[in-house]
Amino acid sequence: MTTSTKGLEGIVATQSSISSIIDDQLSYVGYKIDDLAVKSSFEEVIYLLWNLKLPTEDELARIKTELAENMEIPNAVIEHLRSYDLSTVHPMAALRTAVSLLGLYDSEADVMDPEANKRKAIRIQAKIATIVAAFSRIRNGQDPVKPKKNLGYAENFLYMLNGKEAEDIEIEAINKALVLHADHELNASTFTARVCVATLSDIYSGITAAISALKGPLHGGANENVMKMLTEIGEEENAIPYIEEKLKNKEKIMGMGHRVYQNGDPRAKHLKKMSEELTKLTGQEKWYNMSVEIEEYVKESKGLPANVDFYSASVYHSLGIDHDLFTPIFAVSRTSGWLAHILEQYDNNRLIRPRAEYTGPELQDYVELPQRG
Ligand code: COA
Repeated sequence: MTTSTKGLEGIVATQSSISSIIDDQLSYVGYKIDDLAVKSSFEEVIYLLWNLKLPTEDELARIKTELAENMEIPNAVIEHLRSYDLSTVHPMAALRTAVSLLGLYDSEADVMDPEANKRKAIRIQAKIATIVAAFSRIRNGQDPVKPKKNLGYAENFLYMLNGKEAEDIEIEAINKALVLHADHELNASTFTARVCVATLSDIYSGITAAISALKGPLHGGANENVMKMLTEIGEEENAIPYIEEKLKNKEKIMGMGHRVYQNGDPRAKHLKKMSEELTKLTGQEKWYNMSVEIEEYVKESKGLPANVDFYSASVYHSLGIDHDLFTPIFAVSRTSGWLAHILEQYDNNRLIRPRAEYTGPELQDYVELPQRG
């Protein structure tokens, strides 16, 4: 048997038509992320990822309606969220458990035909934003807000989160973040989702597994940690000494580096621009300025460019969003990609079962219990 590759780096594990990273260029179904980031709504991207084509006006109108009509979550899920220890439960843990619970209230959860799976995809995508918003409100001692059927996805999410309709720039920022995070080839959580459903487990299990993988600080958890770092730094003049110290201690700088991109993450510049605009608008330029200083210093000294998580932190912070909701928002977006990959996996399935390179002892004789030292 051949030797293993740590972290499966460079291993091509499947074929996919959903998104690609070629020569540091990210595209969804062949459409460049740079075009989608400035031209598309999140609903358009969801349609694209699930149908491998851009929607017509009618198709876009239909998916918008279907999403808005399916956003309400069962009362039982809301009551469950209320039952958590709200002072300690991280919203990613709440989301993981709530999505799993949602499956128990879907009578089609274990119906595996393609049409039922598409209906479930709509329901999960619609409801995941509501779960994040409801958990946040309950935690803040407020009642959850029901979605409005006439609002778009990004707008509805902000409405359910804040209890009031959002400004255009806020909707633009969230829509852009949702578009940019929607899919990313075979990242850790997407791979997790595919491995899970390749056993022919159901779609709710696949999404629950993916959320669990996204939760880690080396994946989706990085954006929350970026804001933690910026908050610890506090003021612009402390930024470089803080980073120097971290690098001296061989600690990782969150939001920097990437397994796949060599010359930088193409999504970062869109969020950088949004961060500049929003921090200026809200009088919080220091977060942007500090981020630029860190980005330039780490690029210069370690050759590591910023990834998508780096500027999403100051974008969400300027919108007044709690820091521990950053990763759940990433999950709301990436659910569209996970669902696309799950449907693709079902469509042409084979159990995913790699091998391990054994590094333990050679075959040895069993030692009876009394003879063991
Ligand atoms: N800060 C400082 N050093 C970093 C670094 C970072 N953010 N990312 C990588 N490195 C260094 C490692 O310390 C290691 O150095 P060494 O060879 O001297 O030990 C080298 O670069 C390779 O790192 P490794 O973690 O093996 O690379 P990877 O391909 O597994 O890393 C990430 C990819 C994204 C996990 C990694 O860059 C990272 O941990 N970044 C911070 C977390 C983050 O932002 N995640 C979100 C990704 S979108």
